[in-house]
Amino acid sequence: MSKVICVAQQKGGAGKTTVLVQLATALREAGRRVALIDTDPQASLGGWIRSREALGGKVPALPFSAVGGWRLAVELDRARADVDLVLVDTPPHAEAEARGAVREADLVLVPVQPSPLDVWASRNTVEMAAREGSLLRLFLNRVPPRGRSLGEAEAAMTEMGLPRLASRFGNRQAFVGSIARGLGVVESEPRSRAAEEARTLAAEIMALLG
Ligand SMILES: Nc1ncnc2c1ncn2[C@@H]1O[C@H](COP(=O)(O)OP(=O)(O)OP(=O)(O)O)[C@@H](O)[C@H]1O
Ligand SMILES: [Mg+2]
Repeated sequence: MSKVICVAQQKGGAGKTTVLVQLATALREAGRRVALIDTDPQASLGGWIRSREALGGKVPALPFSAVGGWRLAVELDRARADVDLVLVDTPPHAEAEARGAVREADLVLVPVQPSPLDVWASRNTVEMAAREGSLLRLFLNRVPPRGRSLGEAEAAMTEMGLPRLASRFGNRQAFVGSIARGLGVVESEPRSRAAEEARTLAAEIMALLG
């Protein structure tokens, strides 16, 4: 039975597309069949797919489609027939679009940077997932190597009763650089700390979804 993971966060630039790409490629490395759907009119995920296709078969292709939010349910039925996991990217500031994706999701993954502003901004997505009855986890992204911000963000999440994954991503150029090349970090820098973080995230997600 295939599962749908929707990456959502109303705040722009929290890392939705970055986390989705890194998770997708790490899941694929772990042997899962993965398809991607972009519901964001900014089409950043489509840009990554085009860079990947330009590599001419040097890396495994990932099935991809871009759809308007209203067509998502139909597209999901089609996409999930052949894979284990479908990952759906969503736009910022688009409540109606995101709601459709959240409704269809077995897991809603909400990237937050370690700042109270990001944690507060996730509230809308959290309430949406609660209304739709979807499982949700926050995911700390772009965590700096030192400083108080991590502890403060974690305290804010605990205080607000927001469930979070144990894994997290550091603020790492390797994540950015791999995407520029149409790759995930597990492919571009397989021995890096960033790749280890991507694999840890994939393992936690696989355990969560069973
Ligand atoms: N872990 C990270 N380390 C370093 N840079 C990161 C990391 N995560 C995201 N970024 C950078 O932050 C910026 C925003 O990331 P991204 O585009 O993935 O966010 P988004 O939530 O998809 O944005 P939007 O809301 O516009 O769709 C990008 O420039 C990306 O390269
Ligand atoms: Mg994005």
